[in-house]
Amino acid sequence: MTHDQTTPPTIDTSVPHSARMYDYWLGGSSNFAADRALGQAFEQAIPSIRTMARENRRFLGRAVRSMAEAGIRQFLDIGTGIPAAGDTHSVTEIIAPDSRVVCVDNDPIVHAHAQAHARARMADGEQPRTVYLQADLRHPDQILEALALKATLDLDRPVGLLLVAILMLLGDEDDPWASTATLFDALPPGSHVAISHPSQDFNPSAMAEVVRAAEQGHMTLVPRDRGQVERFFGDWELVAPGVVPVMSWHPEDDRPTDPNAAYYWAGVARKP
Ligand SMILES: C[S@@+](CC[C@H](N)C(=O)[O-])C[C@H]1O[C@@H](n2cnc3c(N)ncnc32)[C@H](O)[C@@H]1O
Repeated sequence: MTHDQTTPPTIDTSVPHSARMYDYWLGGSSNFAADRALGQAFEQAIPSIRTMARENRRFLGRAVRSMAEAGIRQFLDIGTGIPAAGDTHSVTEIIAPDSRVVCVDNDPIVHAHAQAHARARMADGEQPRTVYLQADLRHPDQILEALALKATLDLDRPVGLLLVAILMLLGDEDDPWASTATLFDALPPGSHVAISHPSQDFNPSAMAEVVRAAEQGHMTLVPRDRGQVERFFGDWELVAPGVVPVMSWHPEDDRPTDPNAAYYWAGVARKP
């Protein structure tokens, strides 16, 4: 990608970033040489990493759909990524266009792209039902207190919280369980959460190699086992089939035969 109006000058493009690596695996163009280099190192360890990224994105879509079918019309998507097909905004636009969506990401390039999208939609006369917030999951109070969130979501009504492929980017020292607990406490009964998380349970040696590559790229990446992922759901009630390999969560008809080929645990839960 060349520097254009969606590239704010403050971005250090020599440092790989998870949003842009994910964009690279999904076939996008919002990535730089450093992102592609580390993306390729991950791919050497896990040749199916692009499939994993796509399958994770498809889970996000199925989870949003299931929440919409449960009547949810407000979504809080944390770690939203660079706007692209199949993301929360585009899925809700099709299946529940009256939804309000707050997208949160700590990467300034995500924010820059989102602003450009928002401007284009407003120029088309659309009312902004999706807002983007540059904030950090490690500071959930700042997310909950943000004026843009308060102006968009009614926290007295159920919210669909999406924590899809983000929690592995927080180390244990950041206490991601405390962040999720703070968010859970702020949401009313009937709210849902979707979580996906890469794990060493499927292929320990490949995942260890990815962690080594991440360390060399100065990136935090913490795969977690099934029990650790289940802990994120706290006392919320897991929706059937529970925490399962990402491809096995309400698969569509054309599923590949090996659901363990994408090394993510995934699940959806409801606040009682
Ligand atoms: C792998 S992408 C996942 C994108 C999307 N959730 C999905 O699953 O399709 C992870 C995203 O989380 C964002 N992210 C990483 N750490 C974050 C943090 N501490 N707070 C907010 N966003 C973060 C990254 O910038 C990136 O856009």
